[in-house]
Amino acid sequence: MKVAIVGASGAVGQEFLRVLDERNFPVDELLLFGSTRSAGRKYTFRGKEIEVKLLQHNDDFKGVDIAFTSAGAGTSKEFADTITKYGAVMIDNSSAFRMDNDIPLVVPEVNAADALNRPRGIIANPNCTTIQMVVALKAIENLTHIKRVHVATYQAASGAGAAAMDELYEQYRQVLAGEPVKVEKFAYQLAFNLIPQIDVFTDNGYTKEEMKMYNETRKIMHSDVKVSATCVRVPALRSHSESIWIETERPVSVEEAREAFAHGEGLVLMDNPEKKEYPMPLFLAGKDPVYVGRIRKDLSNENGLTFWIVGDQIKKGAALNAVQIAEYLIKVKNIG
Ligand SMILES: NC(=O)c1ccc[n+]([C@@H]2O[C@H](COP(=O)([O-])OP(=O)(O)OC[C@H]3O[C@@H](n4cnc5c(N)ncnc54)[C@H](OP(=O)(O)O)[C@@H]3O)[C@@H](O)[C@H]2O)c1
Repeated sequence: MKVAIVGASGAVGQEFLRVLDERNFPVDELLLFGSTRSAGRKYTFRGKEIEVKLLQHNDDFKGVDIAFTSAGAGTSKEFADTITKYGAVMIDNSSAFRMDNDIPLVVPEVNAADALNRPRGIIANPNCTTIQMVVALKAIENLTHIKRVHVATYQAASGAGAAAMDELYEQYRQVLAGEPVKVEKFAYQLAFNLIPQIDVFTDNGYTKEEMKMYNETRKIMHSDVKVSATCVRVPALRSHSESIWIETERPVSVEEAREAFAHGEGLVLMDNPEKKEYPMPLFLAGKDPVYVGRIRKDLSNENGLTFWIVGDQIKKGAALNAVQIAEYLIKVKNIG
């Protein structure tokens, strides 16, 4: 495969380099792209140094089989034609095309086959919080239809990119040194704080991030499920956590749910309250699966169940999910 990574210097781009290597992805040639900020920089992949090229409107994507793009929605929109015009499949991590009718939005554990129908040569990777949530929801949806979801997210600093992670480190240092705190990437100081806003507000009072969870979940699961989300930025570095309440068509017992999560694709059950065992972001950074714990009946709703999930949002929430889509296309001989 001739593979390209657009946004190679970023948090997700760097994760692509690790994931492709880790999973032995069949890469014959790898091209890296960035803006003028990182063009000329070199990254090592499988022992070979590769120089980042400047992303331009030219023929650089001729012969490319798969382009993993993670350089923001504006860049994806501007360069989609350049990237796909010679037949490359573009697997896009940005929000640019996710809700377009002619672009599949794919989480392989849930709707892999949707990736086969891509009239524009583009497959969208969902929002990170949605990816990890639908992997967990699928295990229950297999038992009985989920009608309603309430979710509160606890999203790590790195969800806003590599520079945001650096800012959090720096803010902790500044606070502890008694220096003034610099705020650039977030609306407020994140160190020693929580910020109940991710992305901008929409007309209904929900943020765009919260509405992504509503709309994308329905599209991926082909479901009429209603999702009400509150998305919060927390001063964790990596891995998003989510507290989820679901209402199902018929009641699901805790034992049944535990069994479903234990065997669910892409899931690991970590639910042993007596031993204080439950998923936590600090300990799950860099892991592939979505971890599920704290499974309980909802005390306010006969058909309700509540649980807690943690997933590495740069990995399963971005790079890994995209690579799994590509692996699926290779497996069913739909590419290459
Ligand atoms: N971080 C996450 O957890 C996460 C999860 C899911 C999805 N995403 C999405 O993935 C994308 C990247 O996120 P990130 O966290 O990796 O951000 P990041 O760390 O800020 O990196 C952004 C990357 O985009 C590149 N870029 C920006 N403008 C460009 C342009 N005009 N031409 C070429 N490259 C350009 C940058 O290259 P230069 O350094 O050369 O400018 C850099 O490599 C975003 O769309 C984000 O929404 C992120």
